[in-house]
Amino acid sequence: MKVLFLCGSPRKKESSSYAVARYLSYFLDVDYEFVDVAQANLSYDAAETELEFAGIVQKMNNAQVIIWTFGAICWHAPIHLKLFWDKLFAQNQTFEGKIALTLMSGAHFLDDYILDRVKYISEQLGFGYLGDVSADGLPGGYADYETTENSCRVLAQQINQALATGYVPYRESTYIKREYLSALHFGSGFQVDDAAAPKEGDKRLLVITGPGIERNPAAASIYETIRRISQNEVELVEIEKAGIQACRLNYQCLLKENISCVQQDAFEDIKHKMKMADGIIYIGHCTSAFVDAHLQAFITRTGSMLTMPQLKGKYGFVVATGGGPLGRYAAGHLDKLLRRYGITSLAALTDGDQNTKDFPATLQWAVRNLDQALAEKWRMADRFTYRAEHYFMRENAAKFGMVFRGLYGFHHREKLFDFPHYWITKVLWFVFRSEKLIGLLMAWIEKITIRQRKKRMKHDLERYGTGKGREVTSVIL
Ligand SMILES: Cc1cc2nc3c(=O)[nH]c(=O)nc-3n(C[C@H](O)[C@H](O)[C@H](O)COP(=O)(O)O)c2cc1C
Repeated sequence: MKVLFLCGSPRKKESSSYAVARYLSYFLDVDYEFVDVAQANLSYDAAETELEFAGIVQKMNNAQVIIWTFGAICWHAPIHLKLFWDKLFAQNQTFEGKIALTLMSGAHFLDDYILDRVKYISEQLGFGYLGDVSADGLPGGYADYETTENSCRVLAQQINQALATGYVPYRESTYIKREYLSALHFGSGFQVDDAAAPKEGDKRLLVITGPGIERNPAAASIYETIRRISQNEVELVEIEKAGIQACRLNYQCLLKENISCVQQDAFEDIKHKMKMADGIIYIGHCTSAFVDAHLQAFITRTGSMLTMPQLKGKYGFVVATGGGPLGRYAAGHLDKLLRRYGITSLAALTDGDQNTKDFPATLQWAVRNLDQALAEKWRMADRFTYRAEHYFMRENAAKFGMVFRGLYGFHHREKLFDFPHYWITKVLWFVFRSEKLIGLLMAWIEKITIRQRKKRMKHDLERYGTGKGREVTSVIL
């Protein structure tokens, strides 16, 4: 078997990324297999080698080309792939001489940013990175299908050519120390000797971390510093202990304001705490060149806050630990998130490459700034990145979810009166007050999308001909 599709979407066979991958597979000249990484249900313990994990690694070793297949979730891959990458790095797996590609579906929100991270991860695993497709994903299928399908045929052709000629692209990034990528390596932390400041402020700070801080010395020192230096009350939330599950792409929350998540765990309590707090601090542990799986699982649940910022008027900062030089990417990511929630983020810090001498002073500076910003209500002008992302999100939300839901409150607030569907939105608001009607509409759209996709597939296969490859999927999907 030469080509292995590693599928990470929690929507499995219904996922649009799987549909895109299926399309591409018909044009391969070599045998291929689909493996559902989401189904493998991997643990959060990066050191654990489950049978399923070992089985997938074996398949990777037998393949020549790996295709990461997933739908974007909150600016990264789904948690199943994230856990898989964490295990590969922590267990020192390498795949030199092999090729990796990505098939990602999504709403094109930060797709280049996500794909760039996946390319980096692939190269650090030893792969040469041949390319990717960013498909316009919808529940049940994908839009902009002519371009997407054409890109897939081109990519299939490139895979065929690379395999026929033995070509492996060169790695652009140089190898970094594995410990900086490993979830098992934590920042070293530092001694906190400062006396506790009197709690004279009337604000509340919420510190959110992924792994429990007793396992993470860097996070423990950072939390202790914040607790002692701040004049405000400080509360800690550890996502690992709260047992928050990752998003299952139900889509309901994206389409409505202030709707509770359908998954039953402590997520809503934490979201409520975020709404009640005045200051929010994310401490991320940097793993696989990104933030840790626990925090990422939590972040995937905040999708609706990314579409509709709900934490305006709050302040915060972020810290990434344990990733050495990669920490700045993780910190940058968390900083972007805070801004999307509507929070004024004052700093994106990282404990860096063992630079523990100056780091505590920088952290204390950030805590004092946060207290002061809260007391004086600092105002800061939004910059290009935030503005650009906000406008993109607004248009996209207006185009898809909000129109279905007829949220003209959203249109009013976002000054979307020029949006062509505004009047449709007003009418729909009356029609789609019923959950049942919305469900029926979504199911109908999904049915039509799938039917049209099958029709196009038949037509394309007649027109372009199939590749010589055969599907050899043995277990899942
Ligand atoms: C909670 C949530 C977060 C999402 N985050 C992103 C994102 O960051 N970028 C993006 O382009 N699309 C995003 N999307 C859109 C999905 O990626 C898109 O619907 C995709 O087609 C799902 O792929 P799948 O069906 O293969 O899982 C998000 C959707 C949901 C429900």
